[in-house]
Amino acid sequence: MDSFDRHTLVRTLPLALRHKKKVSPNPAVGCIIIKERREIATGYHNEYGGAHAEVVAINSARENLEGSQLYVSLEPCSHYGKTPPCADLIIKSGIKKVVIGMKDPNPVVAGRGIARLKEAGIEVEVADLPAFQEFYKIFTKNITTAYPFTTLKAAVSIDGKIADHNGESKWITNEHSRETARKLRAANEVLITSSRTVRADNPQLTVRDGSKPSPVRVMMSSKLFFDENLFFFQNPDGKSVIAVPEREKTISRLNDEFDGNQKLKPGVAEDAKAAYISANNIADTSASNAASKPASTSANNIADNSASKSAGTSASNTSENIVEKLKKAGIEIIFVKSDEKNHPDADELLKELKRRGFQSVMVEAGSTLSAEFINRGLADELALFIAPKIIGEGNGYFTGLNAFGLNGSLQFTFSKMRELKGDIFLTLRKESKDVHGIS
Ligand SMILES: NC(=O)c1ccc[n+]([C@@H]2O[C@H](COP(=O)([O-])OP(=O)(O)OC[C@H]3O[C@@H](n4cnc5c(N)ncnc54)[C@H](OP(=O)(O)O)[C@@H]3O)[C@@H](O)[C@H]2O)c1
Repeated sequence: MDSFDRHTLVRTLPLALRHKKKVSPNPAVGCIIIKERREIATGYHNEYGGAHAEVVAINSARENLEGSQLYVSLEPCSHYGKTPPCADLIIKSGIKKVVIGMKDPNPVVAGRGIARLKEAGIEVEVADLPAFQEFYKIFTKNITTAYPFTTLKAAVSIDGKIADHNGESKWITNEHSRETARKLRAANEVLITSSRTVRADNPQLTVRDGSKPSPVRVMMSSKLFFDENLFFFQNPDGKSVIAVPEREKTISRLNDEFDGNQKLKPGVAEDAKAAYISANNIADTSASNAASKPASTSANNIADNSASKSAGTSASNTSENIVEKLKKAGIEIIFVKSDEKNHPDADELLKELKRRGFQSVMVEAGSTLSAEFINRGLADELALFIAPKIIGEGNGYFTGLNAFGLNGSLQFTFSKMRELKGDIFLTLRKESKDVHGIS
């Protein structure tokens, strides 16, 4: 492939991103047609169910396509989906050469489009450049497995600590790192955190620049609880969801009407405004209540039927009441199977999110939950913000990792590295074949 071909092919990526409407679960695709080294057409997939990039480009060409070259970011399809096969249209158009960024990982296509073009006598070249693998990493994971693409994010010191000996983690990294972290959030559909991090850090987990809705926040917790003093329960921007083990369903005697499992769908973050209004109404009343309470009251909200029964506590501590408060605050509940430690099972949660159509998840939790995602082979990528400081005693990046050993060590490759005014931002991709069969 000469530099002209390579340059033209790479230009299909920003073109792919021009779509004005949602293309997901389809991939974003861009296409350029060149004749005698002149660009004569461009196209991109603008909307799910709409024309594919190649069709848009072919139909908008300003000249006869006889003898031209088509550059496309992803292999043209060869099957009837929502639209007829693009490979057939390319064959009919008189295009003589097709340059492809990446073979389509979709098992329905997977090389068949390329084979069809070659059978028709068209010259085909597949670049398979890392830039295309990176661009289609979320699509690849989702089309080939039952899981969303999952990133584990952390701010760490050079001695590998995510919090100091007092559990304090604000702030390990500088403002530039934190701004980049917020951008990273915006690129994901779901943020997963833990009950312990929500209590310890009271994180906002929002994007905060107004340009994009914040992702849905999911807190993994062994028990249902509600605490109006924590941002997570205030829904200031976006949607909060609490993921608890199924046994909590029985404890809280939830009825079908408030079965969180029926509700949460992608796009729910776009209801941020409604959630904000409703949350503020609730926050106003709760703020005045909270003023007369000691801060430690929050701990009393932990759903624990047996404790409240035996202590004969007031109705405000019952789990039914907590469910009522969650409902009023617009916070949904996802029930998942429990793992062997009676936590909500991380694997099951990811599959449930995927079933609901969520394709990308970022985990922002402490050492214990982060280790759980690693142990279970659930992290596709690590996003590390590293500050040049030594914290000493404190929480390491992971607590409770399996003893993988040198021979069984999990292999990652550095995919990106950037300096952020003194900090370093590193992303690493899991290299070895994982339990979900994707390399
Ligand atoms: N620097 C950073 O980037 C960063 C980011 C986040 C947090 N932090 C720091 O990390 C510290 C907290 O770390 P941590 O290790 O104590 O807690 P963690 O990893 O944040 O959370 C662990 C807790 O999550 C809950 N959980 C729910 N489902 C789980 C599952 N499937 N597997 C494991 N746990 C599950 C359990 O609590 P329950 O059983 O009580 O529900 C468990 O104790 C805080 O000091 C915080 O400041 C730092």
